Amino acid sequence: MILVTGATGVVGRQVAHTLARSGRVRLLVRDPARLTVEGPGVEVATGAYEDHASLLRALKGVEAAFLVTVDPGGQEDGRFLRAAVAADVRHVVKLSSYAAGEDDADDLITRWQRKCEETLRSSGLDWTLLRPRAFMSNTLSWADSIRREGTVRALYPGSENACVDPRDIAEVAVTALTSPGHEGRVYPLTGPEAVSAEQQTRHLAAVLGRPLVCRELTPQQAAARWARRYPPKVVHALVLSAQRQLLGRKTTTDPTFARVTGHPPRSYRQWATDHRNAFA
Ligand SMILES: NC(=O)c1ccc[n+]([C@@H]2O[C@H](COP(=O)([O-])OP(=O)(O)OC[C@H]3O[C@@H](n4cnc5c(N)ncnc54)[C@H](OP(=O)(O)O)[C@@H]3O)[C@@H](O)[C@H]2O)c1
Repeated sequence: MILVTGATGVVGRQVAHTLARSGRVRLLVRDPARLTVEGPGVEVATGAYEDHASLLRALKGVEAAFLVTVDPGGQEDGRFLRAAVAADVRHVVKLSSYAAGEDDADDLITRWQRKCEETLRSSGLDWTLLRPRAFMSNTLSWADSIRREGTVRALYPGSENACVDPRDIAEVAVTALTSPGHEGRVYPLTGPEAVSAEQQTRHLAAVLGRPLVCRELTPQQAAARWARRYPPKVVHALVLSAQRQLLGRKTTTDPTFARVTGHPPRSYRQWATDHRNAFA
């Protein structure tokens, strides 16, 4: 049995959909009403990282698990891994971040991901670390202003990021969960090219068949927008991360996806085409 956490989230949902098509999978969810994954082999385990008993129930009979945690500075990984060890899980595939492997990255989110990686490496379980660059799906946050006023607003809009399609991250996760030889491996994952917000705006305009403009946010404006969703310490980490992007530190493309899957990663243009309806 494979357990998928984060199954209502961006990457976990894709992992769950793929596994549900091919066999049995168990999904750890806080609120089953939010699930969009179904199938004859799908089991739902209601629970949360804060609830050790729920984790033990969810992990019973599980051989491999996909781990997504989202609380920078929090204890979710340690809690999940304690339960996984107690339940005799063999292998955990963890969603981390590209920056965790970059020496010059030292923001709160990156330090937390490094610590979580270390917790997994020292757990005694087999492990695989997925280190994606920014998700292409982050640009869904532009959907409202594109629909309403044909405008994208971004911090440092000319700076480039070798962003990755979450479906590609999920494909590597499923490969690592279902085939041998991925234990003890670290997989940096990027798209096929680095793109800026300005270039992404042009791709979206072409896909939508309408003109769009990209306007620059000041760091203060960007921070104020992030502050609507995140606590100040996370906002500060996001500002530091954007500054690294401005310095050109996020443009490297990585061959790992093609090596693991045998085909090239999806481009931003492909992602935009496939998600056209979200912006239309
Ligand atoms: N976005 C990026 O560009 C990017 C880039 C690199 C790495 N990452 C990393 O990717 C991860 C986020 O992945 P994602 O975007 O797929 O996540 P997401 O869409 O934010 O979804 C988070 C998932 O975790 C579940 N969850 C939250 N708190 C939980 C709890 N206490 N117990 C059990 N489940 C809980 C959520 O369930 P509910 O539906 O109940 O809320 C949801 O299914 C983070 O570790 C982030 O650092 C992100």
